Amino acid sequence: MTGSIFSDYKIGNLTLDNRIVMAPMTRGFADNETGEVNYLIADYYGKRARYGAGLIITEGIAINELAKGTYGIPGIYTHRQILSWKKVTQEVHQYKTKIFAQLWHVGRVSHQDILKGYTPVAPSAIGANGHVHRLRKPFQAPKSLSNLEVYQLIDDYKQAAKNAMEAGFDGVEIHAAHGYLIDQFISEKTNDRQDEFGGSLQNRLRFLDLIIKEVKEVVPKNRISIRISEKKDDDKGYVWECPEEMVCAITGILSKHQLKIAHPSVDNYGDTLQNDQRSLHELFRQCWDETLIAVGNIDPNKGAAIIEENQADLIAFGQLFITNPDLVIRLRANQKISLYYSKEQLECLH
Ligand SMILES: Cc1cc2nc3c(=O)[nH]c(=O)nc-3n(C[C@H](O)[C@H](O)[C@H](O)COP(=O)(O)O)c2cc1C
Repeated sequence: MTGSIFSDYKIGNLTLDNRIVMAPMTRGFADNETGEVNYLIADYYGKRARYGAGLIITEGIAINELAKGTYGIPGIYTHRQILSWKKVTQEVHQYKTKIFAQLWHVGRVSHQDILKGYTPVAPSAIGANGHVHRLRKPFQAPKSLSNLEVYQLIDDYKQAAKNAMEAGFDGVEIHAAHGYLIDQFISEKTNDRQDEFGGSLQNRLRFLDLIIKEVKEVVPKNRISIRISEKKDDDKGYVWECPEEMVCAITGILSKHQLKIAHPSVDNYGDTLQNDQRSLHELFRQCWDETLIAVGNIDPNKGAAIIEENQADLIAFGQLFITNPDLVIRLRANQKISLYYSKEQLECLH
């Protein structure tokens, strides 16, 4: 389905007012102790809704106590966290905007100082290189999850998804990208398990597969987005050996579950992959017939062209939405859009 960036877009019974998506962005504004979000966060998302975003995907939200990788990360595993998110969804739903909760577990890229004394968990006891965001200590060597714990985690994803729907979200995005927990299962460098979750690509994708299977029980399949990336935040040089095999295997799982939304993540939309002549989005377009979200340093004019040329169905903007709560209005009016504004300009915007 082609159209303009401002035309509405249907995914089953979910109608977006336009094709403009606010990309998920961690802000670290939640209460660090309780993982609850407050009225400032409701106001932050509410503004982007009031000014006309079609779909907001929230910052990564921790699915359980061990899912956090820095300070100020919200959660969706306690009753009070659910109640706090209700204020956000109610604020956003005053307008026509839809909002998905991004379900997140960072796995090994964390530290016991963030996790109330608990050791980070991962598919295998393989440490990450680098430092914990804001804590500035090296990532701690993770504990390898037992087979039973992996199944418990799959349940945690399901419960978090159920909680998100109870909090009034329109859907969820499963964060399987950027080198976090699900991606740590997928990558051969971070997974040397001997059980059904390690070894072949099919086995390494089983964790994602089973999470989708469970989440589908509590969220309609047209309201589940999957975020995938080649890039890993803790391993800048990482590339897929055979991108086509990887993308087809992933889209195979999405299709098997009849999911409708894929959200591949890259820093620069259109860049060709190192081991393929195509970009990540081109590969998805080839292997995947359903809704595709484009993202990655997209210039607004380019965004409109991507939709008109049917390269993707929705366009996500990240940083531009931080500095431009009124991004959609500016796009419609063809106004200046910048990553940088003067203090006076910002005061007018907020
Ligand atoms: C401050 C910041 C926080 C981010 N946090 C997340 C996150 O929680 N989950 C996620 O999937 N991507 C996250 N991203 C990546 C964005 O969703 C997006 O893919 C990236 O910023 C590229 O889009 P842009 O060039 O339009 O900003 C973050 C990006 C930024 C700038």
